[in-house]
Amino acid sequence: MRALDFFAADGSRLSSRVLEGYAVEAWDIRADYLEKYAIPDATKRCGDSFKLATETTPRSYDAILIDAPAGCFSGHCEHFEALEAALPLLRDEGTIIFNVFTSPLLYLAWQPLHGGSTRNSLRRYVGGDLAQWNQARRRYYRRDNLLLHEYLDHYSALFQSKGYETLRRWTERRGWGIYLSTWRLRRIIS
Ligand SMILES: C[S@@+](CC[C@H](N)C(=O)[O-])C[C@H]1O[C@@H](n2cnc3c(N)ncnc32)[C@H](O)[C@@H]1O
Repeated sequence: MRALDFFAADGSRLSSRVLEGYAVEAWDIRADYLEKYAIPDATKRCGDSFKLATETTPRSYDAILIDAPAGCFSGHCEHFEALEAALPLLRDEGTIIFNVFTSPLLYLAWQPLHGGSTRNSLRRYVGGDLAQWNQARRRYYRRDNLLLHEYLDHYSALFQSKGYETLRRWTERRGWGIYLSTWRLRRIIS
């Protein structure tokens, strides 16, 4: 079973737990992170994952993890564009895993409390990056904050519109305002 780690870093926070048991291909733009990648025997590719996706054979992976940076980064936001880029790489039946932020504000308040990166602290975001982040969310979700059923409805409709039926879905709370969302999908329309 093959898995793609779309934003791999060193894999220590999430990938090593979620992708255990798969033959993993790890992509990241940072070679220094990939060097320390936590899953032994993983194949590593350093580069822009959006570009690597266009160079990869469609329907190659049984599972894809999109552990995107929080907020906006180099012209992208969360997993919004990465999901579009990665979905064609999923096999006709496969699992896609990504983070859902129900409330960026709550998430940023929680980061320093649990020893998370100060890069994502509320202090740094308020006034600038948070406004930009919420603006991107309004374009994507039509709102800043989401209730759990709203997020489930959003992605059910999205996957259906792309020709998939949802076989199973799981939601795991990672912290304040952040959930890990797992979807087992089957392609019914090519
Ligand atoms: C949240 S971290 C991933 C954490 C990792 N999954 C783990 O378990 O520790 C996000 C990663 O995305 C990478 N990244 C950001 N933009 C990228 C891009 N365009 N292409 C590839 N990697 C990118 C960053 O270098 C960072 O390592």
